[in-house]
Amino acid sequence: MKGKDIISILDFDADELIDIFELAKDIEGNPEKYRDTLHGYVLALLFFEPSTRTMYSFQTAMARLGGASLVFSDTSKTSIAKGETLGDTIRMFDGYADAIVIRHRIEGAAKYAADIAEAPVINAGDGTHHHPTQAVIDLYTIWKYRGVIEGLNIGVLGDLKYGRASTSFIYGVSLFKPSKLYLISPEELRLKEEVKSDLDRMGVDFVETTDLEGSLKELDVLYVTRIQKERFPDPAEYERVKGSYVVNMELLKNAKEGLMVMHPLPRVDEISTDVDSSPYAYYFKQARCGVPIRMALLKLVIIGDKNGCR
Ligand code: NCD
Repeated sequence: MKGKDIISILDFDADELIDIFELAKDIEGNPEKYRDTLHGYVLALLFFEPSTRTMYSFQTAMARLGGASLVFSDTSKTSIAKGETLGDTIRMFDGYADAIVIRHRIEGAAKYAADIAEAPVINAGDGTHHHPTQAVIDLYTIWKYRGVIEGLNIGVLGDLKYGRASTSFIYGVSLFKPSKLYLISPEELRLKEEVKSDLDRMGVDFVETTDLEGSLKELDVLYVTRIQKERFPDPAEYERVKGSYVVNMELLKNAKEGLMVMHPLPRVDEISTDVDSSPYAYYFKQARCGVPIRMALLKLVIIGDKNGCR
């Protein structure tokens, strides 16, 4: 994987993902073995959109591998404010860093950066398109706690139209042949047609529904997402759909035993806090998986499969 750009979760196949999971598991079990793995290497973190988990977990991952990070998250303090283009900014950081992580509101921005930069580029979210490293984390969480990803009934709830984390998760689980995908959303926020065509092509059995309660009893995993307020062209449309679904303990009375409730976070009000202390809650565990997975990905794209220290 040395030098590989990570733009979409479909840049991987299931076997490659399992190899990444194995490495992340080894990192979790033996952190001291990896302490100097990226000593002397530099990661550029270019965040043109807000971020908490993604930015800080990449930074933590780089620090735990012994490397350094250049963090750029407030464009008002950089030459972007003077009118520098994205292309020129990428060229600059390509000269400073061994890998570039980028989040941008424009779909295709990460691909554009990857075409310019020699260093590997990791997409940390491009508009409503892709968020591949989040999907690797989500799949790892299922693999780690459930032992298997294949053959499950997976529900994805919320804003399937604008959500990039949900789109990448849907593609990601599809690589593992789910038994059935339940795409649960208000009519207005259904999955984009192009993604549905891809699922058809991949031979995935999926159903679109507005009925959360009716679907719930079938599910092994319920992946909940936030309605992406900032992506609505019309605020009135957001007002119509906000608060459409709330997952709470009352609803979960009908859940299968062992159901995993997941969420890429941040949550607004779509999972009630009474679920947090229940055995269904996996979202904080999922967020913690961000560090070992991003450590594994950084090691692989920067130095490849070489073991241990440099
Ligand atoms: C997601 C994102 O930025 O797409 N957040 C994240 O990286 N965990 C999800 C969201 O903002 O709803």
